[in-house]
Amino acid sequence: MGRGGEPVTRVLYPGSFDPVHNGHVEMVETAAGLFEEVVVAALINPSKGGGLFDLEQRMALLDECFEHLTNVRTTMFDGLVVDLASEVGADFIIKGLRAVSDFESELQMAQMNAAISGVQTLFLPTASRRSFLASRLIREVVRLGGDVSDMVPEPVRLRLEGRLGSGTGSDG
Ligand code: PNS
Repeated sequence: MGRGGEPVTRVLYPGSFDPVHNGHVEMVETAAGLFEEVVVAALINPSKGGGLFDLEQRMALLDECFEHLTNVRTTMFDGLVVDLASEVGADFIIKGLRAVSDFESELQMAQMNAAISGVQTLFLPTASRRSFLASRLIREVVRLGGDVSDMVPEPVRLRLEGRLGSGTGSDG
């Protein structure tokens, strides 16, 4: 309930966010306009190998990227997304869909999450001009010296530059 007793819809937007990019930002801004509260959570994706940033660093970047949105908060979690959904009191999980290729795996995860907990997942489409964005490709381009400055928020750009500068940008 909100302060005035009105119902509040709280959604959980989980992801690896390694790193958060402009497609994620668009999703969070859209969700913040649709729902009263949005919880953005950095989680481990067990099917992905070693990443670029650890969970704490990913969450710190999420904090910086979404500090302008008053109904968005961030967290991190090492466990099942449905347990986090229950912990934060989320009504729904939300996920972005870039292309049909996302749909199969996202549908399967949504069905598994519903089966083990009853929590439902809502899908939001990404704007087509950002549908090519993927953290995995951003990591790869950065590692090989390409420019991703138009694809990530400023705090991420600075952090990526820092990692390259310190010579630790070759993991993940
Ligand atoms: O950004 P990603 O990598 O597509 O996000 C996937 C993520 C982290 C949301 C997913 O791997 C996940 O939910 N991880 C937590 C562990 C879990 O709940 N696994 C069961 C999923 S059906």
